[in-house]
Amino acid sequence: MRVLLTGANGFLGKRVAKDLLKEGHELLLLVRNAKKLDRFMKDIICDQQKANIQIIEGYITSGNLGLTEEKIQSLEGKIDAIYHMAALLSFDEKDEALTYEVNVMGTKHVLNFAVRVQCEKFLYVSTAYTIGKETEGAEALYSPNREFVNSYERTKCEAEHLVVSYSNQISVAILRPAIIIGDSVTGQAETSFGLYGILKSLNVLKRKINRKPELQTLPFRLIMDCEVASNIVPVDYVSSVLVAALQYCENRDILNITNPNPPKQDAVVQLVKGYMELPNLGIVHPDCEHQLRDDEREFNKPLSVFSNYLGRNIYFPCEKTAYVLRQANKPVLDMNEEMLENIIKGFIEKK
Ligand SMILES: NC(=O)c1ccc[n+]([C@@H]2O[C@H](COP(=O)([O-])OP(=O)(O)OC[C@H]3O[C@@H](n4cnc5c(N)ncnc54)[C@H](OP(=O)(O)O)[C@@H]3O)[C@@H](O)[C@H]2O)c1
Repeated sequence: MRVLLTGANGFLGKRVAKDLLKEGHELLLLVRNAKKLDRFMKDIICDQQKANIQIIEGYITSGNLGLTEEKIQSLEGKIDAIYHMAALLSFDEKDEALTYEVNVMGTKHVLNFAVRVQCEKFLYVSTAYTIGKETEGAEALYSPNREFVNSYERTKCEAEHLVVSYSNQISVAILRPAIIIGDSVTGQAETSFGLYGILKSLNVLKRKINRKPELQTLPFRLIMDCEVASNIVPVDYVSSVLVAALQYCENRDILNITNPNPPKQDAVVQLVKGYMELPNLGIVHPDCEHQLRDDEREFNKPLSVFSNYLGRNIYFPCEKTAYVLRQANKPVLDMNEEMLENIIKGFIEKK
């Protein structure tokens, strides 16, 4: 198939591009800056696969994706499917307007382009967290009037509704990963989002502790609930569902690409503590935040954007994902301790 990808420069996009190439698909990568794909083209894919890639510079925030009329005409009837993965993943409310521009208006422009070039299938990569502040998920559209944790969630939910509104013109599917982490075998992860933002802050903390011996005997506690599970999914698993969706998703399908057996936060912290060699790392329940020293409170401040994710268990059904994977003869995620350890250890050791 000839498949166009937006967001191919990103953490997930690169993995999906690699997996689609392996399956023999021809790819058109719509990127803002072709130079950013240099390493992918040089190190990640083989020469033979390069012939199956066409890079198109364009902007999802512009009508017609900033492409010339001539370019659009040359693509008419030539694209079988589009994966729309480009998005702004900011939890900073200062970015609210831009988040709307990229995540909602950008999606609209890509949908209009899809219709214009008579593409047959539109696969929209959303997020499991369009669930907002609720705790019982569904593989169905969520009301956009619910409460959301941030404008990222709200704009992704609005974009989902927009996508479904095009379902009379093009076959659409919504694919909702939970928190994406590194490769299940190597731990490789090129992102600073979610867990990796927290690991980055812990690395800074570690350097500080090494410089100041007086800190070495003090506890450093993260505000989170031990009993809460983190719905983390390895990037290779998310990609395997996305690739299967190309063939097996039907119009209006909505798939939660979530972990059916997510690990408790305590288990993740224990692994991070061991592999980062931070013996004083611990957890304090949000109700006991008052026990923290001022410097611990300061350390937790930038992590407060995640507090809504660290403080509640959410149930995400994923039967439709399991169904699509069964059709493709691929397994549903079974994240055991060894896999989790590989992911954390692999990432930390590489850094
Ligand atoms: N990472 C997660 O934990 C997670 C979880 C659930 C869902 N998702 C969804 O998965 C998708 C991919 O996420 P990711 O983790 O791969 O994010 P990422 O690494 O930040 O990649 C985002 C991609 O979007 C592109 N992009 C951003 N703004 C753009 C704009 N104005 N115009 C064109 N392209 C733009 C970026 O292009 P440049 O390289 O040019 O900046 C980049 O290729 C997103 O839709 C996200 O909502 C991610």
